[in-house]
Formats: sequence, structure tokens, C-alpha cells
Amino acid sequence: MTHSVSYTRDGDIGVITVNNPPVNALSQHVRQGLLDSFRQAASDDTVATVLICDGRTFIAGADITEFGKPLQPPSFLGTMEMIENLPKPAVAAIHGTALGGGLETALCCHYRVAAASARVGLPEVSLGLLPGGGGTQRLPRLIGPEAALQVITSGVPMTAGQAQAVGVIDEIVDEADLLAGAKAFAHKLVAEAAPLKKVRDLNDKVTGVDPAMFDAARQRANAERRGFEAPQRCIDCVEAACSLPFDEGLAKEQELFRQVLTSQQSAAQRHIFFAERAAAKVADMPKGTTPLAIKRVAVIGAGTMGGGIAMNFANAGIPVTLLEAGREFLDKGLAVVRANYDRSAKRGRFTTAQVEQRMGLITPSLNYADIAEVDLVVEAVFENMDVKKEVFARLDTATKPDCILATNTSTLDVNEIAAVTKRPDKVLGTHFFSPANVMRLLEIVRGEKTSFETLATAQAVAKTINKIGVVVGVCDGFVGNRMLHYYGGQAQFLLEEGCMPQDVDGAVYDLGLAMGPLAMGDLAGLDVGWRVRRERGLPERLPEGARYCAIPDLIYEKGRYGQKTGAGYYRYEAGDRTPHPDPEIEQLIINYSREKGIERRSIGREEIVERTMYALVNEGARILEEGIAQRASDIDVIYVYGYGFPAYLGGPMFYADTIGLDTVYKRVCEFAEQDPASWQPAPLLKQLAETGGAFN
Ligand code: 3HC
Ligand code: NAI
Repeated sequence: MTHSVSYTRDGDIGVITVNNPPVNALSQHVRQGLLDSFRQAASDDTVATVLICDGRTFIAGADITEFGKPLQPPSFLGTMEMIENLPKPAVAAIHGTALGGGLETALCCHYRVAAASARVGLPEVSLGLLPGGGGTQRLPRLIGPEAALQVITSGVPMTAGQAQAVGVIDEIVDEADLLAGAKAFAHKLVAEAAPLKKVRDLNDKVTGVDPAMFDAARQRANAERRGFEAPQRCIDCVEAACSLPFDEGLAKEQELFRQVLTSQQSAAQRHIFFAERAAAKVADMPKGTTPLAIKRVAVIGAGTMGGGIAMNFANAGIPVTLLEAGREFLDKGLAVVRANYDRSAKRGRFTTAQVEQRMGLITPSLNYADIAEVDLVVEAVFENMDVKKEVFARLDTATKPDCILATNTSTLDVNEIAAVTKRPDKVLGTHFFSPANVMRLLEIVRGEKTSFETLATAQAVAKTINKIGVVVGVCDGFVGNRMLHYYGGQAQFLLEEGCMPQDVDGAVYDLGLAMGPLAMGDLAGLDVGWRVRRERGLPERLPEGARYCAIPDLIYEKGRYGQKTGAGYYRYEAGDRTPHPDPEIEQLIINYSREKGIERRSIGREEIVERTMYALVNEGARILEEGIAQRASDIDVIYVYGYGFPAYLGGPMFYADTIGLDTVYKRVCEFAEQDPASWQPAPLLKQLAETGGAFN
């Protein structure tokens, strides 16, 4: 047929096998092969056809690398129509993941069987797309619009069991021999003269549907995925499935699919998909570097971060010893962990048995002798170099020689910490983000002497605990927080020049970020930043000519530490995280400008967005120049998964690329002219702008 699709006879059953590694995507040659194979199956004397895949998975979707280029024939729909019109039973045999176009292909088969471990879903929405192979028209006909809306707008796959319960899967067959199970199922269909069930003809579940369901879905999607266009278009399609005949609904789906496929949002989200996978690669890592097995872990420090970090390992089924300096802190830390689990259980995310099982994997300890056998230690004690050094010196003698020692420091020099041990090759940073049990990002900080084996192990651990690991180099703040420093700086300068907190945050929020920089300060705690500034001797030891805004210090001195004290840049009602503008702070800001002799001016939203975003981008460019990040797309991944940057903008570096680096550079130069103390255009930005280049 084609090199990736074969057709063979197995007795009286025709077997079509797809073999297009790594994930059997529906590339052009696969579509052609399917078309040819089903054509042959239609014309021979076999009694039924089984569609199955080699390798690790059933078809995992369209070939995303083909998007953005003219689609070569045959079309998805032409291929699918051929399958659905087969004049004998077509059975899809699913293992691994039948996703997107893969599930849509299976929905065109008359029946579906699956291995118990299989998962099926329509994840197109997370690529800024909608199912464009008839999925939005067929799935509601099969499982009803409400369930279909859930599957299509969330993009979350179902287990085989769930899929069977709603009617997507007809039978779960023996994992060990999927083909035998599928053939037996096909023979049963033939023996029973079962009808050729064409999903397109099932109209019961899409008739008489109350349109209010779709308005409610639109509102929900707006609240949960603010600013994303694709969920809204997905809902439009499901509504069309309930209000139009199949062919007209399909035409509507195609029209909207073309619309989202060419959208900037989808380009950005597809960029993030590939960026996430590229981030897992370390350019100079020798092929065949194998990670060490991590079977037992210790976490040092049961504070804000340590407890959350320990939960990650317990969630992954890895026993973890949580070691503290004192009984009181240990008990407190464990109580917070339990409360977090209990809250999740209340929300239905875990059963109480699962909570107990996870708590059972966390062993509290006050004694370094208890961690002699662990394979990995994550240190999360106070952010103080002397304390960290003392802890690492103890860890070096307390643990076995091949144990990896990781620090969760957010600002300290990992090389200096490594130097107190006799195994600097086994030391690195693992920078979790708060709350550590929730945030997906993990900055893996590569020290001067960190070995490839240690790095590879950290990457494997990231995957095991469901984090997105991004390797970064040692510098103050690593990638994310180093850039944030300049972003936060501009937010404060905007305050002294004429904005109020809500102006700055409003503009950034409207751009699509989860929250603005000042609201983020209130969330993280203004005392945290204040302590860091004091450690650095600021503002007294400010470098010559640098610009400093003391507004956050003044707010801190009022005892306003942010959400935790009910007041910071904003005021908060008890038990509510909604920021309310506060006249007291507005007056404080106005007074500050006056005392500093700054004439306040009206500053537009465009300038707010440019200054905050380009501050990120300019520092991102420096980070790239210095090799602290391996690639611009790594920075994008860090901002999307660690800082609430909307995936539909593709991260700050991709965002700058879409604006055009010549435009960005020109603005940065203008800012630098007006305010040389806070803006120095990055040479890489200049170079790319002048040569018509892009970060990505
Ligand atoms: N097209 C092209 N390449 C793909 C791909 C796809 N649909 N899915 C995965 N790949 C590539 C990855 O980029 C990666 O390449 P690399 O090794 O060069 O980095 C390789 O396949 C392996 O992928 P993962 O590292 O993600 O492998 P995992 O085993 O961890 O996960 C998976 C497998 C669950 C299938 C995951 O890859 C995935 O979620 N893929 C995307 C599924 C998807 O979104 N499908 C819908 C596509 S859109 C569509 O179908 C439109 C239709 O409605 C018309
Ligand atoms: P925390 O103050 O909440 O917790 C630190 C814990 O370490 C305390 O419970 C303390 O009793 C314990 N501890 C101190 N010295 C110890 C020792 N010698 N042995 C054992 N335990 C000891 O601090 P937090 O916020 O959890 O921070 C921990 C580390 O994580 C710091 O390095 C911090 O910079 C970093 N970090 C913090 C983030 C945050 O948002 N809080 C985000 C990312 C990193």
C-alpha cells in the first residue's frame, strides 16, 4: 500500500496495519495507505476488516508537522468517508493512545475494541485547534452532546474503561493479543449479522437538545480558559451537530477548522507543544547517557516548598523521607501536607484510601541516619548560603556516594553549594515553583561540574513526577526569576511615573497573563522580596546609576505583606483572593512620586504592555547570549508552565517574534534613550532585529 500501511489477509479477515513511528501520526502517506487498503478490503472476499497499529500506540492524531503547510491529498475526510462506507464490518483495535485524528478514524470504523490500558480522546483544543476529521459531529452522536463537550473542550483523554462506559469502546479485549481479540470480535459481528453501525447516522442523542447547554458551556470555557479561541469554536461545532444535518454540520466543522488552523493562537500553542518536547533535550549530552534509578528520595526541610516537593514523589509512588531540624516544624509541615491531600479528596480528586497510601509513603524524620540509603535528596531549607552549605556537608557524609544531591535554591550559587561536597558531579539545582505539588515547571540547574548522568537522572525524575523539566545554567535567579526581576522593575517604575497598581495589572491581565506583576507580588508575599533586597544590601548598595523604586519597601513597612496579611498593593476581604484597589496605597504612590520629584503622567495600556513584556524579552535575549538557556523555546516553556503566561501567545520570546524583533528592538532603544538606568538593549536582540531574524 504505502511504506507505512500494509494490508494482509488473516484467514477471512482483512488486517490493515499502520506503522509510522513514533506515534503513528496520520501523515500524508498514512492517509494514502489507509485509503488504498480500505479500497482493497472493500473489493476482496474477506468478511470483515480490522484496523490496528504497530509500535507503542494506535494513531495518535494528525501529523502536527504538516500543519502550517498546504495539506497534501488525500484529505482527512476523504479517508474517513472511505472507512465508514466499507461494505463489511470495520473494527478498530486500539492500544496506547487513540487521539485526535486517531480517534476520529476509529469513530469511522463500525466498531471499536481496545486494550484495558488504552486511552482515547480529542486533544486538539490544547493545540489551539478543534477536531477536524468529523470528531465534533460523530462524538456527540455516539455519546451525547454534554459528554462530547466535556471530551472536546477539555482535551483530556478517557481511559478505556471510561470510554466503554459512555459507548465509545464496544469491548475491552485481552491486552496480550489485541489482534486476536479484535478478530474474534469481528467474527462475532459476522455470525450475528450485526449492522454496519455508521456513527454519522445515529441521530437520537443530537435531537431536541436545549441550546442553553451551549451558552453554559461557552461561559464555563470563558472562565476556565480565558482568552482561548479554540474551546469556543469547539462548542460552536458541537452545537452544529445538534442543529444541522450531518453533512451540513461537517461543513461547518471544516470551515471552523480552517479558521483555527490558520490562527495565531494555534501557531503559538503548536510551538509550545514542540517546545515542551525540545526542552527535554540537552544539546551536548552524549547519546546513550542513562539515568540512575531513583527508588527512594529524601526532602530536607518541611516548609512551604519541602512539603509540596515530597507530595510529588508520594503521588508517583516513590517513598520519601521528609527530614526537618525540629519536631515542631516537622509536625507542622506534615499537617500541611495532609490538609492538602484532604482538600483534594474532598474535591473528588483522590479517594481517602489514596490519601492514606500517599501519606504512608512519606516518612517523617529528624535524623540524617535515616537517609543513608536514598538515591536522591532534594534540599529545601532556608534560603541562606551558610545554612545550605552546612546541610550539604552533612548530606555528603550521611548519604551513599552515588546519591544525587539537589538544591531547591531560588537565588544561590549552585556551584558554591556543590563545592562543599566531595561529589560536585552529583550536585545540581531542582528549582520547583510554588505550590510545588501543583506547578508543572521544574528548572533543572546544571552546575559547572554536574555530570550528564546526574542531569539525565533529574530529567527522568521530572517526567516521573509529571513535571516539565527545563535545563538551565547557574546565574542569579536562573531563567524565570532573573527575567521576572526586570518585569517587576518596570511594573514599579510605571507606578512612580503615573500608573496605579490596577492599571499595570489590568493591562497585563488583559493581554492574557494569569495575573499582573503586582497582584503576583501580593500572592507570593511582599516580605519575601523585601528580605531578598535586604540580603543584597539594597537600596544602600545600589550599583552606580541603577534605578530603584522604594514603593514596595514602603508598603512592606506598613505591615502589608500581601494576601497573607489581607493587604499589600491591594486590599483583600477575609477569605477572598480578589484584589481591591486601595485609596491608602494610591495616596502612598502619589506622595512617593511627588517626593521623588517625578511629574506623574497618563500612561496608556500599550506602553504598559510594551514595557513589561519587552523587559522580559530583553533579559531573555541576554540569557540566550550567555547560554543560560539552551534555546528561546525553553524560555517560552518556562513562562507558560511556571509564570501563567498564556500558551496562546506562545511564551514571551515567541510573542516577540510575532510582533517582529525589529519593532521590539526599536521600542527598547526608545525606552533606553528615555531611561538608560533601567534599559540596556541586549546585543542578541539588536543582532536579530538587524538581520531580520527571530528567537524561535
Ligand atoms: N504529529 C507529529 N509528531 C508527533 C505527534 C503528532 N501528532 N505526536 C507526537 N509527535 C512526536 C513528538 O514531537 C515527539 O517527537 P521527538 O521525539 O522528535 O521530540 C515524538 O512524537 C514522541 O512524542 P512524545 O515525546 O510526546 O511521546 P509520549 O510517549 O510522551 O506521548 C503522545 C505520546 C501521548 C501521543 C503525545 O505525543 C501526544 O499527546 N501527541 C499529540 C496528540 C495530539 O495532540 N493529537 C491531535 C493532533 S491534531 C489532530 O489530530 C487534528 C485532527 O482532528 C484533524
Ligand atoms: P520555609 O521557610 O517555608 O521552609 C524551610 C524549612 O526548612 C523550615 O521548615 C525549616 O524548619 C527547615 N530547615 C531550616 N534549616 C534546616 C536544616 N538545617 N535541616 C532541616 N530543615 C531545616 O522556606 P520555603 O519557602 O519552603 O523555601 C525553601 C527553599 O525553597 C529556599 O531555598 C527557597 O529559596 C526555595 N524556593 C522557595 C519558593 C517559594 O515560593 N517559597 C519557590 C522556589 C524555591
